[in-house]
This record gives sequence, C-alpha cells and structure tokens, in this order.
Amino acid sequence: MTDIHDLRTFIDALEDTGQLARVSQPVSMQHELADVGAALERAGAAAGLFERPEESPWPIFCGGVASGRRAAIALGCQPTEMVDVMEHVLEPAHGIGPVITDDAPWKANTVVGDDVDTSLLPIPVHSRGDGGAFITGAVTVARDPISGRGNLGYNRMLRMDRTRFGFNVNEWRDVGTFWKSREDPDAPFPVALAIGLDPAVMIAAGVKTPVDELFIAGAIRGRGIEVCPATTVDVNVPVDAEVVVEGLLHPTVRQPEGPLAEFHGYHGEAWDSPTFEVTAISWRDDPIYQTIVPGSFEHIYLGNVLPREPLLRRFVRHLDPAADVHIPPYANGFLAVVQIDRDNPGTPKNLALAAMAAHLNVRQVVVVDRDVDMYQASEVQWALTNRVHWPEDVFTVPGAQGHEMDPVGNLRGVGTKVGFDATYKRERREYGERVSYPAIDLNSYLS
Ligand SMILES: Cc1cc2nc3c(=O)[nH]c(=O)nc-3n(C[C@H](O)[C@H](O)[C@H](O)COP(=O)(O)O)c2cc1C
Repeated sequence: MTDIHDLRTFIDALEDTGQLARVSQPVSMQHELADVGAALERAGAAAGLFERPEESPWPIFCGGVASGRRAAIALGCQPTEMVDVMEHVLEPAHGIGPVITDDAPWKANTVVGDDVDTSLLPIPVHSRGDGGAFITGAVTVARDPISGRGNLGYNRMLRMDRTRFGFNVNEWRDVGTFWKSREDPDAPFPVALAIGLDPAVMIAAGVKTPVDELFIAGAIRGRGIEVCPATTVDVNVPVDAEVVVEGLLHPTVRQPEGPLAEFHGYHGEAWDSPTFEVTAISWRDDPIYQTIVPGSFEHIYLGNVLPREPLLRRFVRHLDPAADVHIPPYANGFLAVVQIDRDNPGTPKNLALAAMAAHLNVRQVVVVDRDVDMYQASEVQWALTNRVHWPEDVFTVPGAQGHEMDPVGNLRGVGTKVGFDATYKRERREYGERVSYPAIDLNSYLS
C-alpha cells in the first residue's frame, strides 16, 4: 500500500523514483510550458514540476500519469500488476465510499462575488492550434439531483472572461444526464472543479461508470477519500485538492468553445458549449496548479488505458482464460494488442472480435504470441511485418460503431474495425525460434 494521498505526496513518490523533472528556469505560459511537458513525455523522461512559470504565482505540475511506470507509482503497484489492480478497484463490490469532513486546506484562501477573477488561475495556453487558455487537468465534481450520488469526470474549460468559462460536455456524460433529468433542465446546475489531486482521484475520474467514482478512488487507496462541502455550491470536493473552482453551469447560455488538441492527435473543432459562471475560487496556501498537456499520453492513460484494459481482458478471457491485453498509449485508445499462446488457427480472429466488441473506441486489434513484447511498439510492428500475410490474416468489420471523434470513421463514429492475426503460423512455414539475446545489466559493462 502506498502513502500517496494528495498531489504533494505523489510528487514526492515520483522524485524518490527518479520520475520527476524540476524545471527551475522561467517558462512562458504561452506554449512553452506545454512544449517542455510534451518533450518530457516524448522522451519518456519524467513528470514536470515547473517551479517558476512566468505570469504564474504558483508552480505548475504536468505529466503525472503519462507513462505506465508513473501510473504504477500512482496505483502503488508494479507495472505488471496494473491491469489486476484496476480490475479489482473497478469491481463495484470493492468500492470504498468517501468520508465527509467539515474543513479542507483549500478553504484557507477564497474569493467570492465581485472578487471572483479567473485570471487568478495560472492557465497555460498549450498547443499552437488551441483556441485559448484551457483548464485541462481539473476533475469535475457533480451530484445527481435525483439519486444524490456524486460523480467525477473531465471537461475541458476555455477561459472566456473574468467570471466565465466555456464547458465542454459530450452528450453521454453523467453531468449532462444529471442536469437534463431535472424538472427544469435549463436551470443553472452547480458543479465544482478540483485541481491538483491525488492521482487515485484522477484515475477514478477517467472511468465511465454509473457509480460515484470516489468509491473507485477509495478502493485504490484502501480507505475512504476525504471530502468536504464546497463553499457556494452543493457538492462535496476532495479535501486534498490544491485549488477548487465552484460555479453554475448554464445549459442554454452557449458560446463557441475550442478548438483544443485532442486525444486522437488532431485539433478538434469548436463546440457550441454551455457556459460556466464562477461563484468561488479557493486554494491552499502555496498551491500547486496541475495541467494535462492536451493530446498527450496522460489523457490516453486516464481515459483509455487504465479504465479499459480490464474490460477488454475480461472479454477476451471469456474465450481464452490465459490471454492478456494492452491498449498502447501511442494509438489513442483505438488499438488493442492481445497476447496469447496460440493453439487453434482460428482463435486469434475470435479474440480480436471479442476485443473490438468490448469497447466502441477499439477499432484495430493485433493478436500476438508470447515471444512478442506487446508493450513495445517496435515489437508489435515486427509481428505485423513478419507474421501477417495480409490476404489471410487481416479481416474487417465494416459499418461498426466506433468513437464519434475517430478521425477515420464518419461523423456518427461509424467505420470499419480491423483485426490482425499477427501470430506465428507454424503450419504455413517453419522458422524456428525468434532471435533473442538475454537481458544484460549494462552497468556492469559501462563505467
Ligand atoms: C484528460 C481528459 C479530458 C477529457 N475531456 C473531456 C471533455 O472536454 N469533454 C467531455 O465530454 N469528456 C471529456 N473527457 C472524457 C470524460 O470526462 C471521462 O472520461 C469521464 O469518465 C466521464 O464519465 P462520466 O460520464 O461517468 O462522468 C476527458 C477525459 C480525460 C481523461
């Protein structure tokens, strides 16, 4: 069990394991901070703690859950155990409910009413194609007005003026279902944004589930997450947040919001989004602001890899109890790799079908043998190159439902799913074993 319980203890754990890069020189909030964050991620280096961003009174953190290694640190497990841990915590019976308290460190500093000013928040402008300064690393906290249950999720927010943001919300999000289920669906709807969090809360918020995701965060930590009532809206916010923004969503007061670098690697279009009127901004003493570089691996880990690998594994294990699954972050959640001990020649295709049926985002499935490291892109590519005879080993499922933002589907997300049997076909041609060299500790050879 890990002793991580907030962003600060996560940063300590990253530093202890060589997974934190402190950037002490000033960086501009206009692109430069995101450029460095993206470069750290591309190099597989570390999360970034920008100690002195220009125009920001607070340090800024990014890239926390942007690699398998750091996700494992966040979950308090080994990288090889992550799917098992996520499968365990996603089981509703294992959920641990939040603990309600009266006070929180973020209540130390609060502005309300006429003092509200969104420029208090150091919001970077990330990618060069972005339509402005977006809050990307906040967890949206809401409450179902019918059942009373809480909900966590992510909604990008474009700063519009002193008191308002544009609030991006897809038609399937729980927060939208909540406001539409009220007697007056057009009435202002209260939410809070929690920024700078225990990564357990951020991982839980990426899960799409009809239960309060705080139960999943509690299961990750093995104890209830402490929450306390917000100051101006009726929702309970994690006590350990660094910064909290409260306000009212106006479902019918809409404004263009976007574009923003998207998870699929392009800039999405502008949306006609509800506006969010800020009623309070609160922060701990000496807070750390957190951002997610949009279009980065962190988005994919939180929204695809961690919540969906257990689901896909369950589907393929229904056919082959020993099969393993990986959703590689480099393919935006559209690709899944299934690893098996091949027996019957037709089984890989059945497993590919199972993986593509498990989640609509999964458009391509590659099935590989045990001698291929499914976590390495070069290995998967090797199997595709050397074990796939295209006319026989590739099959397509046209007209299947995919994600509505999948760049190769149509605007409703309908497209063609593709399966690749990249296993070794001994019956076709005998090559023997793959060339391999044993693992070596290079430290004992290099001085
Ligand atoms: C980093 C990140 C950013 C996201 N941004 C948005 C967004 O701007 N709009 C949206 O509708 N969904 C967005 N999502 C997707 C969801 O909010 C999400 O994954 C969540 O689980 C929704 O679940 P819920 O319907 O149970 O609240 C984002 C997800 C992640 C991980």
